[in-house]
Amino acid sequence: MAEKGGPAAHGARHVAIIMDGNGRWAKKRFLPRAVGHTRGVEAVRNLVRGLRSTGVEVLTLYAFSSENWRRSEEEIQDLMGLMRHFIRSDLPEFIANGIRLRIIGDYSIFPADLVEMIEDALARTAGGRNGTLAVALNYGSQQEIVRAAKAAAAGGEITAEAIEAALDTADLPPLDLLIRTSGEVRLSNFLLWQAAYAELYFTDVLWPDFTLAHLEEALAEFAGRERRFGGR
Ligand code: IPE
Ligand code: IPE
Ligand code: MG
Repeated sequence: MAEKGGPAAHGARHVAIIMDGNGRWAKKRFLPRAVGHTRGVEAVRNLVRGLRSTGVEVLTLYAFSSENWRRSEEEIQDLMGLMRHFIRSDLPEFIANGIRLRIIGDYSIFPADLVEMIEDALARTAGGRNGTLAVALNYGSQQEIVRAAKAAAAGGEITAEAIEAALDTADLPPLDLLIRTSGEVRLSNFLLWQAAYAELYFTDVLWPDFTLAHLEEALAEFAGRERRFGGR
């Protein structure tokens, strides 16, 4: 968070990351993919620990896409297990550090015990005032836009404002910077609407290797970008 409530020098309030490259990180080391995911969680932990120092208010992380169900049953189970483990091990620290947890995406279809853990974590971090960690779970931006358009239609008017107000991110600040690791240059159904005027940043660093210093590098580059929003 910014000191005394003022904006951070780089000006980015909301940063999102497509955390990619866990599998390739493991493969390079002749390790199972699951090890890459475990190390990926450690990268998340380190970033959340440093979040306040970056001045970023909201960090949104793409953890599981609506298309990731296409992976093997074993890998999906590994990822669910890691989510359980992460909540168990890190929730007390989130609460102690005033980090508010948010979820985007439809997590209701996850195993019942995991849904329960997530809801407990949401409730217990709701009062956090030192930064928000928004985690995208079973998230697909096209599906989100369809849901939002339906809600807007039910409200009587399909306008950009009405759709925006019904997106999963409605209560978060506008997206400033979208980062993707691992050298892939695509959005993979993440925050398509929200990225309309976000700055995009691609790095070859594989997610398990991504540190606070890498985030700070991205923020420094963001600070030097000229955002025009169509104007002159
Ligand atoms: C990102 O790493 C983690 C998830 C998508 C859950 P990957 O598992 O996609 O890693 P690569 O792309 O195979 O290297
Ligand atoms: C995007 O990564 C999803 C997450 C990071 C959770 P993927 O690895 O699933 O994306 P593609 O398949 O390479 O586009
Ligand atoms: Mg990938």
